[in-house]
Amino acid sequence: MNTIIIASLLTMIAASGFAAVPAIIPAPQKMELGKGSFLLTAKTRIVTDAASRQTGEVLAARLAQAAGSAFSVNPEGAAGAAITNTMLLTTTDAIADLGAEGYELSASPDAVVIRAPGQAGLFYGVQTLLQLLPPEIFSSNVVRGKEWEIPAVRIEDRPRFQWRGLMLDVSRHFFTVGEVERLLDEMALHKLNTFHWHLTDDQGWRIEIKKYPKLVQIGAWRPGTGFGLSPQASTAYDTDGRYGGFYTQDDIRQVVKYAAARHITIVPEIEMPGHASAALAAYPEFSCTGGPFEPGMTGGVFHGIYCAGNDATFKFLDDVLAEVAPLFPGKYIHIGGDEVPKNTWKDCPKCQARIRAEGLKNEEELQSYFIRRVEKLVKAHGHVLIGWSEILQGGLAENAAVMDWIGGGAQAARSGHDAVMTPTSYCYLDSFQSTNRVNEPRAIGGFTPLKKVYSFEPIPVGLAPEFQPHILGAQANVWTEYIPNFSHAEYMIFPRACALAEVMWSPKEARDWEDFTRHLATHEQRLAQLGVNFRRNNGLNAAQKALVESPAPPSPARGSR
Ligand code: ACM
Ligand code: ZN
Repeated sequence: MNTIIIASLLTMIAASGFAAVPAIIPAPQKMELGKGSFLLTAKTRIVTDAASRQTGEVLAARLAQAAGSAFSVNPEGAAGAAITNTMLLTTTDAIADLGAEGYELSASPDAVVIRAPGQAGLFYGVQTLLQLLPPEIFSSNVVRGKEWEIPAVRIEDRPRFQWRGLMLDVSRHFFTVGEVERLLDEMALHKLNTFHWHLTDDQGWRIEIKKYPKLVQIGAWRPGTGFGLSPQASTAYDTDGRYGGFYTQDDIRQVVKYAAARHITIVPEIEMPGHASAALAAYPEFSCTGGPFEPGMTGGVFHGIYCAGNDATFKFLDDVLAEVAPLFPGKYIHIGGDEVPKNTWKDCPKCQARIRAEGLKNEEELQSYFIRRVEKLVKAHGHVLIGWSEILQGGLAENAAVMDWIGGGAQAARSGHDAVMTPTSYCYLDSFQSTNRVNEPRAIGGFTPLKKVYSFEPIPVGLAPEFQPHILGAQANVWTEYIPNFSHAEYMIFPRACALAEVMWSPKEARDWEDFTRHLATHEQRLAQLGVNFRRNNGLNAAQKALVESPAPPSPARGSR
């Protein structure tokens, strides 16, 4: 179609009074368009029930920032006044079936009404309401002369999955409290509710543990950014020029509170028994060999391993978990468990003595012994253990949940365990988004374009319906070996996390690639208003499109982590 025909069609559509389908990401479960629109003006009132006041304040603050008026919540005289020019947020008369995160939103020329059984649902209703407004509503400055119109619409919405996650690795590269909070805001916009904070790994220990001060004094720092990257790519240096950083326990409390206000639960990850070089640089006595370990090795092949034959190791981990657990009110603590080379344990007399004493067959069963013992500690501290696929090796601990990155999710579900799906081929956002590597920032390898991410189906093929409720949901993983700063992280995350948000929230039958990319054109304007450094999907020419949609070229294997 030529542009003149398209332009005249658009004029006809506009003149006919039919609004375009609102571009909401993730797509709601049910949406019916009505006639006319609601106009936000300086006189619009925000009215809430007592329980929903805070959610009303969130809405008021965002509207005020871009539309410029001070929208007071429950202003004098609002109670009992006629419902005109009102935004009403309430838990009264909500459809109970919508669940803790569902909501109902109806917009008419007189009012926008959001009803939800709980505050998380109301908050998500507010996110949808904001996306019904022009994208400039996400501006951080007042936008003058804009018609703040909301099309008449009725939406009923609830998420498909309860775990809609994003993991950030802050060990390989460090991200500040402000950057993490910014990411939490970006997650909330996409109705993501679980932030998996990968706090420890070989290259850095990032959480203050008061009983073991050297964990951050030594374990949080390394000589340089490493990974062959330019030292200028990051600003995370201390005054001695060491690379790194850590969060104090007060920082953690602040971030947990910030997340909770956005209905996001934080799952901390404390890696064990492998990926522990940073911890062992500080306390080598908990390794098999006694060290020495360098803080923050970035070579990629070496992983420090805790000694499974030494009871003092478990005492140390119990002490660490005793400080971690009360900081995180969510249900889960992630204990890693991935990629444990077993040769260190093979060569260790203490580990071999443990294998004999416990009647274990081999080092795989020693890994299982380790995880089961840690599960008791996690439980004693009031949490449930979750770990990567490898915690299935040698037998899964009794109440553990599995985070499937290389398989095992279906197996876990069939044996009555919960699982979260994060397969490398769809959910690892550190991979390339285009075959045109020359024009792309450094990635770890692979090729995971937007369309591939959007095609992800979290329920494993062949998993019988009775086991499917054990699949809690899915998660985007952002490993940061080659992501030295936040702007680069945003580029890797967006828009792929927008696609995953729809995978995790929207009904399977509502998912449509063409619709999604059309909505994304509007959504990109929102991200631009918010200053997010997203990778542009729209506005690409045919040659650029072919590059991101063509099959993967032969690519080097992913780097070992
Ligand atoms: C992982 O990517 N090693 C969980
Ligand atoms: Zn050992």
